[in-house]
Amino acid sequence: MYDLLVLWDWVGFAVRWLHVVTAMAWIGASFYFIALDLMLKPADDMPEGAYGEEWEVHGGGFYHTTKYLVAPARLPEHLTWHKWQSYSTWLSGAALLAIIYWVGGEIYLLDPTKADLALWQGIVISGGSLTIGWLAYDAMCKSRLSETPTLLMLMLFAILVAMSWGYNQIFTGRAALLHLGAFTATIMTANVFFQIMPNQRIVVADLKAGRTPDAKYGKIAKVRSTHNNYLTLPVVFLMLSNHYPLAFATEYAWIIASLIFLTGVTIRHYFNTMHATGKGPHWTWGVTALLMILIAWLSIAPMRDTDEEARPLTAFEQRFASAEGFEAAYNTVLGNCSMCHAREPSFSDHMLWPPKGVVLETEADVARHAQAIFLQAGVSHAMPPPNAVATMTDENRRAIVAWYRDATRGTP
Ligand code: HEC
Repeated sequence: MYDLLVLWDWVGFAVRWLHVVTAMAWIGASFYFIALDLMLKPADDMPEGAYGEEWEVHGGGFYHTTKYLVAPARLPEHLTWHKWQSYSTWLSGAALLAIIYWVGGEIYLLDPTKADLALWQGIVISGGSLTIGWLAYDAMCKSRLSETPTLLMLMLFAILVAMSWGYNQIFTGRAALLHLGAFTATIMTANVFFQIMPNQRIVVADLKAGRTPDAKYGKIAKVRSTHNNYLTLPVVFLMLSNHYPLAFATEYAWIIASLIFLTGVTIRHYFNTMHATGKGPHWTWGVTALLMILIAWLSIAPMRDTDEEARPLTAFEQRFASAEGFEAAYNTVLGNCSMCHAREPSFSDHMLWPPKGVVLETEADVARHAQAIFLQAGVSHAMPPPNAVATMTDENRRAIVAWYRDATRGTP
């Protein structure tokens, strides 16, 4: 079964790899088309119905692209659709969410200092919130609000801020930011799946049948794509945030995440304007820098005291804390890990926060992180870092393995 755990960790790595690759393909294609759209120029010899064209050179060849605003006079038999980049990003992301935050929910999703949830409740909230988020957003886009795009955008921002706060009330900071990213990315992919693609199919069918397509389809697609455009960069930030405890391990993580959505707008606004006019508004960088400074300040703003020591152990932690060999493993961790992995690390003056936000001080901390400790310092020698390994003996590592083995005996 230890082999299973190792295999499972590799499955997580493989799915993450896939997710990053598909996201690169999706965002890459999306950035490309946005830039292409804005760079199109009219030409004298363009075919009927053409709106603009662009010449590009890449990879040893020349590309000549023409855009038809509604459609060419004759629709070609073969059309390349760009949709699987988006779908595969969402599917691999959902799988990764399930692997890390559902299967690994006791460690990464639930925070007993915030909410007393059973794992299944956390999972229902996790999955349910993503579904409800899309339904709410979609209803909003279809309502009268759609007549005022700016107000619609502000309402979307308000929803994101509310979700940011809400997630941070119940989940670990890390899971909260990740879920906010997943919430947003779900809206983006659902825009492609439920709106942009079906509407495009109607337009293509109309054209093939010789009917004039309704102009409303183009308008709907435009609104949804604009939202996707402004949401892209914040989503990438939120997905990366789990590597940076400064972003998620603070009480103000929900404000940090909210401010990030504003930087998404300021940065995209620069590039959108630049591609369209050849010159971007420089003030947007000033605002972006100010927002980032505010975020950095918030990440170290004083936190409310959490009374970690006093918290009773959860059932999950209890299992590891009561297993045979816990005492030896706990002492090993105290002696070899806690100087870095503490709320206030003592390892060096330069270490101001626990690496990766992993705190290994109290019995609850150590029990909660049993699996990570087992993987990082039991079966592998990833921890402690090579230059701090002096006190860690093979016997120490065996103590960790023996403890973990006892605690998980008889479970798959
Ligand atoms: C000298 C300081 C130091 C000591 C001692 C140390 N760590 Fe770490 N630990 C780090 C750093 C730095 C990272 C972040 C590594 C990275 O960025 O990939 C880390 C990361 C981790 C992670 C998170 C890994 C991940 O990718 O999510 C775990 C779990 C961990 N350490 C466990 C331990 C255990 C168990 C011990 C003791 C056996 C230990 N560490 C001792 C500095 C230390």
